[in-house]
Amino acid sequence: MYLSKEQEKILNGDRGHAAKKSMEILTALGDIYGADRLIPITSVQVAGVSYHNLGDAGLEFLEEMARDGKAVVKTTLNPAGMDLEDWEGLGIDAEFAKKQIRVVQAFVKMGISPALTCTPYLAGNDPKFGEHIAWSESSAVVYANSIIGAYTNREGGPSALSSALLGLTPNYGLHLEENRQATRKVKASATISSISEFGALGYAIGKAIGSEIPYITGIHEVRLSELKSLCASIATFGGTAMFHIEGVTPNKTTVPNEEIEITQKDIENAFASLTDGKDPDFISLGCPHCSIEEVEKIASLLSGKKVKVETWITLSRAVKGQADRLGYTKAIRASGAKIACDTCLAVAPLTGRFRCLATNSAKGCYYGRGNNKFKTLIGSTEECMSAAVTGKWKGG
Ligand code: F3S
Repeated sequence: MYLSKEQEKILNGDRGHAAKKSMEILTALGDIYGADRLIPITSVQVAGVSYHNLGDAGLEFLEEMARDGKAVVKTTLNPAGMDLEDWEGLGIDAEFAKKQIRVVQAFVKMGISPALTCTPYLAGNDPKFGEHIAWSESSAVVYANSIIGAYTNREGGPSALSSALLGLTPNYGLHLEENRQATRKVKASATISSISEFGALGYAIGKAIGSEIPYITGIHEVRLSELKSLCASIATFGGTAMFHIEGVTPNKTTVPNEEIEITQKDIENAFASLTDGKDPDFISLGCPHCSIEEVEKIASLLSGKKVKVETWITLSRAVKGQADRLGYTKAIRASGAKIACDTCLAVAPLTGRFRCLATNSAKGCYYGRGNNKFKTLIGSTEECMSAAVTGKWKGG
């Protein structure tokens, strides 16, 4: 990969340790994927923030980078392992909290915003159509490429951090127009109208075509909360970093001839595959983190009621600020449900605390099982909130 004189100097250590390390990471990546050069970027989202996943080795790496590393573009963080302000309320132990706070402090020292959300586009990190960016967090990557029309590969934590410190990314993959074209037409003939059904659609498409880029038809009406859900599940179950939805995705693509169909039966099968529990002892909504419209709906469903089951509503602190002003936080807390900022069911250290998770998120089921060994139940927002109040599951 070609490096300018200035970039070579960085590689030789002229701008300090963190910049040198970052240049080593980006040049290695560029060489592996055949990038011709490094290109400037405008925005970064860094995943790999929970101490639960990083451990001491990850914390040490970050503190070493923070000695002289400084972000040069707008950069936000993915969720951490706890609510930074109310970790005790979520039952997180003090030893874990101490380490998690050190992780976030290292990022903040590097000039990175502790937005601690997987929906950075709802928290001020909102690149525009056509911008080249370097995001990690698979659901946000799909959202950026497919809904915003920005250009990003699916970065890992270290490569995203390196891009933040240098303002550069290797020019390959989804930064190139020719790699953003749809490769398979997918006709959604099922009726799909809720967050959980869009999650099931992503599951079915992902299982059917893996990491190919689909051109999806048959979606006539879709809201932000449902798009988030689709982005999260298609990335989780198939591995793609981009899709096109007819009439929604702003980028142009040729339309492939080869077509598959996702039927009502496929959606039912997806629900069945994501369900192996019975009565939930943990309910979580907000995977990906809730939009203000979702919080409004949850507040109205819980208004004047009391929950019988541990219930977490996960969201960014930015969206919580809006919810506070609109009275939604108060209504949700009055029911006994918890507002959990900065974190989520997958990255908080929850293994062994709960047996069965109920959620409206297909991705949440995947990580609830994989990371925390939960049994899972998937249903609509209404079904999840009804289970929170009654303690009984009637959804799915
Ligand atoms: Fe976000 Fe956690 Fe889900 S990072 S997409 S809420 S697994």
